[in-house]
Amino acid sequence: MQEEESSPIKEQKLELGSVMLSREEIDRRVSEIAAEIAEDYRGQELIVVCVLKGAAIFMVDLVRKIGDAVDVRMDFMAVSSYGDSSTSSGVVKIVKDIDSYPEGKNVLLVEDIMDSGLTLYYLRDVLMAKNPKSFRTCVLLEKPERKKVSTEIDYKGFTIPDKFVVGYGLDCAGQWRHLPDIWSVDV
Ligand code: IMP
Ligand code: MG
Repeated sequence: MQEEESSPIKEQKLELGSVMLSREEIDRRVSEIAAEIAEDYRGQELIVVCVLKGAAIFMVDLVRKIGDAVDVRMDFMAVSSYGDSSTSSGVVKIVKDIDSYPEGKNVLLVEDIMDSGLTLYYLRDVLMAKNPKSFRTCVLLEKPERKKVSTEIDYKGFTIPDKFVVGYGLDCAGQWRHLPDIWSVDV
């Protein structure tokens, strides 16, 4: 018989705390941000870059709500910084770069959460080096108490307290990304 994979969650006995943001609150806010983006880029091409995997659910909801006022192109990046730990290693590495050529184009980077700000700070540099016509950031959650470096967020969903959160794409060691609401985790 195959042995069950060992899971850091089980070992640490982490448990879901309570719902911090309900699916209805998230849906309302994502609609508002999408309307703003649709207005700002009306009639233009926009490369929306999702930072995998955490921003995937946010990004697909967002682009569907932006609608046909904008010529949206989807692209994806993957970075590693956290591993399976809930505290940052402080090291950001690009695991997958975008496929498109953003030179002379509008780029919108979509991220799930800004914690220390290191990931966003680093990705801004990487994408700016590709000479886009414009570059903006869209971040669902910001934890201002944990900020180490300052990077501007152009479209922000919610400001949250210093709690580890999961759901709506966000995970803890791969778990709980699929939950429709955003929960705090008792670490
Ligand atoms: P930063 O570089 O410290 O700003 O970290 C950003 C990345 O850390 C995000 O893309 C998330 O993957 C991860 N992260 C930070 N806080 C949380 C959290 O509360 N839940 C899940 N992932 C988080
Ligand atoms: Mg992540």
